[in-house]
Amino acid sequence: MRFSSLNILGGLASLTAGQSAFTPARPPSLPLAVKSPYLSTWFPAGKNGGNGGYLPGQWPTFYTGQVTAWTGLIRVDNQTFTWLGAPEVDSDLANQTAYEYTSSKSIFTIDVDDKVTIKASFISPLTPKDLKRQSLIASYLNVEVASKDGSDHEVQLYTDISAEWISGNLNAVAHWEYDTTDGLSYHKVWKQDQQPFSEVNDRAEWGNIYYTTDTKHGLTYQSGSDKNVRGAFASNGKLDDTKDTNYRAINSEWPVFGYASDLGTVGSTSTSALFSIGLYQDEAIQYLGKNGDEILPSLWTSYFSDDVAALSFFHKDFDNSNELTSAFDEQVDKDSKAAAGDDYAILTTLAARQVMGATQLVGNEARQFLFLKEISSNGNTQTIDVIYPATPFFYYANPDLVKLILDPHFENQESGHYPYKWAIHDLGTHYPNATGHADGNDEHMPVEECGNNIIMVLKYAQTSQNNDYLHEHYPILKQWVEYLVEDSLYPSEQLSTDDFAGHLANQTNLGLKGIIGIAAFAEIANLIDESADAQNYTSIAKDYITRWEALGINAAADPPHATLNYDNDTTYGLLYNLYNDKLVGTNLVPQRIYDDQSAFYLTVANTYGVDLDTRNAFWTKGDWEIFCAAVAAEETRDMFISKYAKWVSETPSANPFSDLYLTDSGEQTGINFRARPVVGGVFALLVL
Ligand SMILES: *[C@@H]1O[C@H](CO)[C@@H](O)[C@H](O)[C@H]1NC(C)=O
Ligand SMILES: *[C@@H]1O[C@H](CO)[C@@H](O)[C@H](O)[C@H]1NC(C)=O
Ligand SMILES: *[C@@H]1O[C@H](CO)[C@@H](O)[C@H](O)[C@H]1NC(C)=O
Ligand SMILES: *[C@@H]1O[C@H](CO)[C@@H](O)[C@H](O)[C@H]1NC(C)=O
Ligand SMILES: *[C@@H]1O[C@H](CO)[C@@H](O)[C@H](O)[C@H]1NC(C)=O
Ligand SMILES: *[C@@H]1O[C@H](CO)[C@@H](O)[C@H](O)[C@H]1NC(C)=O
Repeated sequence: MRFSSLNILGGLASLTAGQSAFTPARPPSLPLAVKSPYLSTWFPAGKNGGNGGYLPGQWPTFYTGQVTAWTGLIRVDNQTFTWLGAPEVDSDLANQTAYEYTSSKSIFTIDVDDKVTIKASFISPLTPKDLKRQSLIASYLNVEVASKDGSDHEVQLYTDISAEWISGNLNAVAHWEYDTTDGLSYHKVWKQDQQPFSEVNDRAEWGNIYYTTDTKHGLTYQSGSDKNVRGAFASNGKLDDTKDTNYRAINSEWPVFGYASDLGTVGSTSTSALFSIGLYQDEAIQYLGKNGDEILPSLWTSYFSDDVAALSFFHKDFDNSNELTSAFDEQVDKDSKAAAGDDYAILTTLAARQVMGATQLVGNEARQFLFLKEISSNGNTQTIDVIYPATPFFYYANPDLVKLILDPHFENQESGHYPYKWAIHDLGTHYPNATGHADGNDEHMPVEECGNNIIMVLKYAQTSQNNDYLHEHYPILKQWVEYLVEDSLYPSEQLSTDDFAGHLANQTNLGLKGIIGIAAFAEIANLIDESADAQNYTSIAKDYITRWEALGINAAADPPHATLNYDNDTTYGLLYNLYNDKLVGTNLVPQRIYDDQSAFYLTVANTYGVDLDTRNAFWTKGDWEIFCAAVAAEETRDMFISKYAKWVSETPSANPFSDLYLTDSGEQTGINFRARPVVGGVFALLVL
C-alpha cells in the first residue's frame, strides 16, 4: 500500500520492502524547487494524480500539474537506475526508503540495488532577513552517494532538465546554450520569443532558466533529444560534450540539458555533487505607483551585474546559504513544537517555503517591494485579503516584509489611482501586472480590506516600532476607518475574503473585523499622539462591540456561538476575525465570547476540521481554522491543529498544500486552491 503515510518512529520497523518512511508527514505534494510564483516545482503524492511520494518513476510538475521534467539516473558498476523522474531509459527504478521535509528542504533517501544509497536534498533557501539572498530565484539539488553494503562501487551520476521549464506552451520554440564560468558549468535555456509580463497556464513566458553545476568529477555535458542524451549516459556512463543546435519546440524530440558526473570509486564516505536551478528575469513587474507607470526590475539585479554573476554567487554560496536556511528551519521546528507540539510543526514546516514561494523581491536597494501572486484562485497581484492571512508568517520571519508588501498599495492609492474611499482589493487583475484599478473595477471587499489594512499596519508598527510609518499614512488610514464606522456595524451586502461563498449582508465575522479595525485605528492614533481620534474611535468601537454581540451571537444556543449573519440562529461559522483582537492587543471582545466559541467548535468538528460556515456543508479553510485555534482553549486548539495535520497526511489531493478542503472526505472542493500563500496563516500561534 504505497499511499499510506508512515511516521518514521512508529513505522520504520514495520516497513516492508519498497516502502518509504515519510517524516514528519507525507504531504499531498512534495515541494522540490519552490522559490517564486514562476519557479515552483513539486512532486505530486496524493492518490488523485500522485504516486504516493516516490521520486523514482514519476515526473515533477509545476504547481498547476504541468510537467517540469527533471531527471536523475545513476550507474552503479555499469548498471543504470532511475532515481528521479520517469525517463524512458532502459533502467530499473531505485528504491526510495525515506522522505523528510523541513521548512526549506525535501530530503529523499534512495537505495540502489543494496549497493549504494543516494541522499537527494532539494533546498529552496529561506533567508527572510537577508534580502540579497532571498531575492535570488533559485534552488539547490545536492546529491550525496555512499556505499550501502560496505564495498566500493563505480558510480556515475546523471541529471537533466527539459525545456518544459521555460514556458507553459509546449509548442513554443526553445533556445539554449552551454558555457562555463569560473569553475562552474551551466546550461542556459530560454523561450525564443520572449514575452515580458506574459503568462501561459500561469508560467512565465520570459526570462532564462539556468541549470548549473561545478566543473569537477570529470563532468561531461550534452544537449539534445531526451532519447539521445539519456541513452548516451545509460550506455556509456558519460555524455558527448556536444550541443544540439537544432533549436525547436519544447515538445519536438524533447530537448534536454544533461550532466554526467563521474564520482569514481564510492565507498562508505559519501561523495556529493551540487546542482542549482534558477530563473533569471531582469524585468519583473509592471507597476502603477507614485511615479506613474513603471517597470520594476528583479531586486537581484541591483546586487549582481548579470545572470551569470548572480547564478555564480548562488551556486558558490551553498555552504553559507545552507547554514542560514538550516538555522531558520530549526527555529521554525523548535518554536512550533514548543507552541503546540509535533502536529503543529507539520503545518508550519510545510507552509513556510510555500508562502515565500508566492512572492518575489523587486525594485532596487533604495526602493524595494515584495510582490505576491494570488496563486491558483485567480492570479491577482498583491491581493490584500490574501496578504492578510499570510502575514503571521511574515511577522514571524521578518515584519519588514509586511511593509515591503503594503508600500505599493499606499503608493497607488495615495497617488489617487483608485476612485473609492474604501481600500482596494488588489493591485492588478493578473500577476505580474500591478497596474492598479484606476477604473475602480476590482473585486470590491470594502470592510474586509479596510479592516485588514489597518490591522496589518498596526501589527507591523508594534513589531518594528516604526511609528513614522503611521504618521506617513495617517490620512488614508483615517479615510478607511471612517468607512468602517459607516459600514461595519451593519455591513451592507458584500463579499468577504471567502468570496467563493458569495455576497451576504450583516456578516457577523466581517462586522467583527471592521469593529476591531476601528479599535486598531484608535491604537494607531494613540501611538502617534492623535489623542482626540484615539478617544473617539475607542468609544465608537466599544459601543459597536456591545451592539454586535446582541446582533451576531446566538445566546440561546448551548453553547452560545456566533451566527453566520445577524439574527440567523440556524447558522454558524468560524469566527476567525476574533484572532485580530489578540493579535494587535485591542482586547475589545469579552472573554465569554472566546470561551463560548472555543466550546462550540468542539461540538461541530468533523473528521478533518470544522466547516467554514453553514453555506457549504463540509467546506473549510485551513488558514482560518488555525486563526480560531490560536485564540481557543487548549483542547479546541489541539483539535483544530491535529485535524488539519491529519488532513495533510490523508487527503487524496495531489495538489501543493491547500487551504480549502472538505472536512468529511478530505477531498478538495472542486475549486482546487493550491500552493497559496495564505497557508502562512498557520503561523498564527507563533505571533501572539
Ligand atoms: C564496467 O565496464 C567497464 C568497461 O566495459 C569495465 O572495464 C569495468 O570493469 C566494468 N566495471 C564493473 C564494476 O563491472
Ligand atoms: C528494490 O526493492 C525490491 C524489494 O526489496 C528489490 O527486489 C529490488 O531489487 C530493489 N531494487 C533496487 C534497484 O534497489
Ligand atoms: C500584462 O500586461 C501586458 C500588457 O502590458 C499584457 O500583454 C500581458 O498579457 C499581461 N499579463 C498577464 C499575465 O495578464
Ligand atoms: C468621531 O468619528 C466619527 C466617524 O469618523 C466622526 O463622524 C465624528 O465627527 C468624530 N467625532 C469627533 C469628536 O471627532
Ligand atoms: C441587517 O441587520 C439589521 C438588524 O437586524 C436589520 O435591520 C437589517 O435589515 C439587516 N440588513 C440587511 C440588508 O439584511
Ligand atoms: C440564514 O442563513 C441561511 C443559510 O445561509 C440562508 O439560506 C437564509 O436565507 C438566512 N436567513 C436570513 C434571515 O438571513
